[in-house]
Order: sequence, then C-alpha cells, then structure tokens
Amino acid sequence: MAVLARIERVRADVHAASLDAFVVTHLPNIRYLTGFTGTAGAVVLLPDTCVLMVDFRYVTAAQALVASLQTGAIVVETVPNTYDAAIVDLLRRESCRRIGIEAAWLSVSRFNAMSSDLAGGAPTPLRADGPTPVLVATDRIVERARMIKDLSEIETIREGGRRISGIARRLRDFVAVGRREDEIAAELDAAIRGAGFSRPAFDTIVASGPNSALPHARPTERRLHAGDSTVLDFGGVYDGYCVDLTRTVQLGAPSEALRQIYEAVARAHQAAVAAVRPGVRPSVIDAAARDVLVQHGLGEAFGHGTGHGIGLEIHEDPRIARESPGLPDQPVEPGMIFTIEPGAYVPDTGGVRIEDDVLVTADGCELLTDAPRLMMIDV
Ligand code: GLY
Ligand code: MN
Repeated sequence: MAVLARIERVRADVHAASLDAFVVTHLPNIRYLTGFTGTAGAVVLLPDTCVLMVDFRYVTAAQALVASLQTGAIVVETVPNTYDAAIVDLLRRESCRRIGIEAAWLSVSRFNAMSSDLAGGAPTPLRADGPTPVLVATDRIVERARMIKDLSEIETIREGGRRISGIARRLRDFVAVGRREDEIAAELDAAIRGAGFSRPAFDTIVASGPNSALPHARPTERRLHAGDSTVLDFGGVYDGYCVDLTRTVQLGAPSEALRQIYEAVARAHQAAVAAVRPGVRPSVIDAAARDVLVQHGLGEAFGHGTGHGIGLEIHEDPRIARESPGLPDQPVEPGMIFTIEPGAYVPDTGGVRIEDDVLVTADGCELLTDAPRLMMIDV
C-alpha cells in the first residue's frame, strides 16, 4: 500500500514545519497521496487522519477506493457546497491553528477568502503568531516526495518506457517524403493509444525541415521533403504515469551542417546519460551535455534545459538545467526518473533532439526508453 508510506513521509515534513494540518489542492498530489483520480477534490492531512474531500460525483468511487485500502488511514468526506467552505469547516472542527497550503497551487483569491473565513471575517493578512488560525504557504512538500519514485511507480514507468520505445522503433512506418506533419502526429497519437496508453502525455510534436529548428513546434500541414530532419517528440500516460521520448529522423542525406548537428547532439546525449549517478547535481548533468554542444559551436543553439522529471505529470522535479538562483539543484538520488533531451536548433539548417527517460540507480542509471538514437531513411 504505497499510498500509506507516502502519507507518512509527507506527514513527517508537515510535522517538521510545525503545522497542525496540510491542505492539498493540486490534483496530481491528491492522486499521489490517496490514489484518487477524479477531476476535483482536496486532501486535508491531519496528525492522525488523511481526509479525502470529494463532491457528490465522486463519493462512491472515493469510498470504494478507501475501502480497498483496508485501513482507517484515509477517510472520505463529502463536500456539500464548495470545497473551500468544507475545508474551513473541517479545520475549525479540528481546532487547527497553523495550516499549511500549497503556495504554488492555491490562488490568491482562494487564500484570502479561506484566511478571512477562518478568522471569522477578519481582514487579511493575518499574523502567523496571532490569535486566529492562519494559512501558511508551503513549498513543494508533496513534489519533493514525488521526486523519488517508489517500486510500483518505477515498474509502471518502466512498462510505459517499453511501450513508447516500441513505437519509436517503428518510426519508419510513419515518416516518409510527401507525408504531412499533422497526419504523422495524428497517427502517432493513435499508436500511443493502441499501445495501451490512456492518452498522449502532451501535444505530439512533429517538426520537419525548417520547423525542426523550432524547439517546441506544433505540427503543421507541411509535407516532408528529401533532406529534412524531422523531430518527433511524443509521450503517453500509462496507468497515470507519463513517459516522454524524442527521436529525429533524417530523410535522405543530411547537409554537412546538419550532419555535424546530429553528431554533436548524439554526443551530448551520451555525455549527459554517462553523468547520471547518485550525488551528482542536476546542473552538472546539464553541463555534461551543454559542454559538448559548446565545443561544437552549438552553445547558442541549445536554449533549453537538458531534462525534467516525469511521473504523474509530464514536467516535474528535478529540473536538469543550468544552475540558476531559486532553482533547486540538489544532488540526484536513486529512484529519481527524468528525461535527458539535449537538442540544437539552427534556423535555415534544421534541428535535432534526442530524448530518453532514465532512472537513477545505486551506481548510475537505467535507460527506460530504448530505440536507435539516429534514424536515417533512404529516399
Ligand atoms: N517532450 C515534451 C516536453 O518535454 O516538453
Ligand atoms: Mn521532454
């Protein structure tokens, strides 16, 4: 029962922050803590109970979910009117005084309204050491726990990685001169569902020729030409968990400039994967890729980070990026899963990106996606 261990871990952080309660409003965090998959809900984590609040639409499903856990650790409460009124009511009943909220996810208007409601209509802001209950901003408490995947999450993402790799190995079936980017994207989306994913993890990218030099292009009606590089970036959600993979397919012989970009990006990818092991900071992994591209004169052509965590969301912590004020850069640990996706984008020449998903292991990393890194189609 993975969720019980997750609840305990988060509860320890909540306790360490001297909070009486923790209100979780971000749906992926609610799913992580309870397994609940509805489109609305809230969790109030108390010292002895985890209260899953749902509205009328989800009561039966939530009760069945909690019953299947065969533990009293989670209880379901039905929201009669609004979520915020029900949360405030519960916090009052439990006499909570210092109440953590997820600062990244609770809007300012909800924060102000709930604060004022808790204080019996007193104006905000309230003082944390004052006589009335107060909402306290917290930062990434559940997200920090989510960075380290447990065994069931690892197995799910591994399976997702196998399935998305199966599609990547068949890219020749999708890519050909004369085909349109948007047709190929639609076929990839169908293949993703056909492979057992519930949906694509994000809008599939198919970017050919000049469009390949746009790092996050949208598929257009452009037809593929001989000589194009075509970036195909696609992912799926498998049992709630995202996987993400990019390959660049070359149609016919590349120009010399493009050939050098392929070589540089492949080396950058290899260098970054080789740098992944416990204790290494994300900025060091990023630098492993970036340095290679700089050496090839492509530093300016690589304008994004080297990777991002994947899990219940397509972009999560850790961010594998340059060191930057305010961005966490704590060393990676076993159980973290993130992408390695260096790229280089040169207007008028083309773009190349190679993306794989890696799991940090005790002494290095395991590649969760596996398909030929460079694919050339004769035309
Ligand atoms: N592969 C899509 C993204 O990372 O944004
Ligand atoms: Mn990605």
